[in-house]
Parts: sequence; structure tokens; C-alpha cells
Amino acid sequence: MRLLISGASGLLGLNFALEACREHEVYGIVHRRRLRQTPFTSIQCDLTDDAARRQLLRQISPDWVVHCAALADLEACEADPPLAKKLNTDLPAKLAEDVSNGGARLLHVSTDAVFDGQRGGYTEEDEPHPLSVYAQTKLAGEQAVLAIHPNALVVRVNFYGWSLSGKRSLAEFFFNNLRTGKETPGFQDVFFCPLLANDLAKILLTMMKMDLKGLYHVVACESISKYGFGVELARAFGLDEKLIRPSSVLEAGLRASRSPNMTLSVAKLQSVFPQSLPDIRQGLQRFVALYREGYSERLRSMNDEDSRVL
Ligand SMILES: NC(=O)c1ccc[n+]([C@@H]2O[C@H](COP(=O)([O-])OP(=O)(O)OC[C@H]3O[C@@H](n4cnc5c(N)ncnc54)[C@H](OP(=O)(O)O)[C@@H]3O)[C@@H](O)[C@H]2O)c1
Repeated sequence: MRLLISGASGLLGLNFALEACREHEVYGIVHRRRLRQTPFTSIQCDLTDDAARRQLLRQISPDWVVHCAALADLEACEADPPLAKKLNTDLPAKLAEDVSNGGARLLHVSTDAVFDGQRGGYTEEDEPHPLSVYAQTKLAGEQAVLAIHPNALVVRVNFYGWSLSGKRSLAEFFFNNLRTGKETPGFQDVFFCPLLANDLAKILLTMMKMDLKGLYHVVACESISKYGFGVELARAFGLDEKLIRPSSVLEAGLRASRSPNMTLSVAKLQSVFPQSLPDIRQGLQRFVALYREGYSERLRSMNDEDSRVL
């Protein structure tokens, strides 16, 4: 398959592109950051530029567009709601339109944050109730994609992994702090079902091969608090788990409201998917293994800081 992956400098897009290019022809789109020495073709494009985006789609003529680009920083969305809408709602809608006109398939990445987290265990049938600008604009984005392009595959996810900067994900936050002996807060009152980005990428590639369409929750098969995740990560690396200080999201002084229980049901996917979805420890073991084989360093070496556009 020929894949055009947006957000290829981001946490999910980069790991997705690296997994996908083992088997497929991959073109990864970056915006302000630049990549070097990637085993896939990296292309710079501002996807909100309609003419540039359409020309790129014509030029590459992909079988699938995998849309990972977004304004995924909750605090940045709260600070600039028009930009959040432009990137998280308007852009996916335009991509869905372009793709449905051109005949490619679209995989659009959404989030568990569309729910208010009062209950947890949400299925695809449950009514979303987004609390933040990020969540509202992401929900509007997924709804627009499915209305415009009913054949699109829309996935609500949660993930962690190694990133270009070495500091993008929650797991890197815990790892970087614990490794330097720094006490680190872990929220005991926020629950989620995080998947390793590499595992998520492999699952999504299988879902694409299976030709699935519509809305699916794609997360780990069990849930954990952010504090518990930090403790499991410390154990997996043999680091000092006592450095993780139990804390509350309410103490953190964050501007964007967070959903306390973001756990999702994966029953819909699990009823058709050929393998069991990974649990938390399996993902963390692979996160450690990737570190030991030099994967995190390899990602950081792809960061072409000198060419970054400010
Ligand atoms: N991170 C999480 O925990 C999480 C959880 C649930 C769902 N999600 C969803 O998963 C997806 C991927 O998130 P992520 O954390 O991997 O994102 P990320 O690391 O913040 O990366 C965002 C990407 O979007 C690109 N981008 C931004 N504006 C662009 C534009 N105008 N044109 C082209 N590209 C543009 C960025 O390019 P440059 O950096 O080169 O400018 C970057 O590659 C998003 O849809 C997000 O909402 C994330």
C-alpha cells in the first residue's frame, strides 16, 4: 500500500511511519519540524494550505491517508480556540472531502478525551461530552469526517512512546525524571488505557488491511491511573518507584479540564480483531526493549533541529 501519513514529526505519526515503512511505501508529512535520515520519504507541507494539500494528494496518489496531525496540546487549544478549530475540526473535514473526491481511504485519529470521564468504560455507542476546547474540536472533527466520508476509519486512541524530542509523551516524562532521581507527581484520580504507539500503529495497519470503516475505540485492554502507570514504568526499567508522588489533577493548576475516567471499551474491535489487544505491562516491556535496542536515540537523531521553521 502507498500511505500518506500526516503528523510524521509527532509522537504517533513518526512511530506509525516507522512501523509502516517496513512493509509499505510511506510518505510522511511534517510542518514546522524537519526530519533527517528517515527510512521513509519526508515531505514538508502546511496542510491548512488548501492548494498545497490538494497538490500533494494528487502527486502522491495514496491508497490511504493516515491523519495524525493535530493541535494535540490541551493547554495550547485552550489558549487559541480558533487555531484548535482550524487544525482539529476544519482540516480533517477538508481532508475527508479531498479523499472522498479522489478515491483514497482515510484513517482519522481522534481521542478518548471526547468523553467527560464521569463513568469510564465508554463504548462507541455512548454519547460524548467533551470538557475542553481540545476535546470539543476533536469531536467536531471526527463527526465531520464520518458525515463527509462514511467509508473513513475513525479511531479514538490513547498512547505513549518514544518521540523526536524525547519529551513528548507521559512515559518519557516519567522516565526522564526518574532516571535523574527527580521526584515526580503522578495523578491518582485520572484513569486511562494507554497503548504503546508502536503497538497502536501495528493494530491500525491490521485494521486497514481488514478494510474496517466507521468508529472504533483502539486502546489497551485494561485501565490504570496515571500514578499507577508511572509505578509500572519504574518497575519495568528497574527505577525507583518511590520517587513518584501520588497527586491529584486538581492540584496541577491546568487550564483545560481533564476527564477523570477516560477508559474505553474495546469490545467492538475485539469482536472482529484476530489478536488480543495488549495490556499495560506488555506495552511497557516493549517500551523498555525499544530503549535498550537504541530506538529512542535513533528517533532523536532524526530531529533536524537546524532546519526547524519558527
Ligand atoms: N498524545 C496523546 O496522548 C493523544 C491521545 C489521544 C489522541 N491523540 C491524537 O492522536 C493524534 C496524534 O497526536 P500526537 O500526540 O502524535 O501529536 P503531536 O506529537 O502533537 O504532533 C502533531 C503533529 O501535527 C503536525 N501539524 C501541526 N500543524 C500542522 C499543519 N498545519 N500542517 C501539517 N502538519 C501539522 C505537527 O508537525 P510539526 O511538528 O512538524 O509542526 C506534528 O507532526 C492527534 O490526532 C491527537 O489528537 C493524542
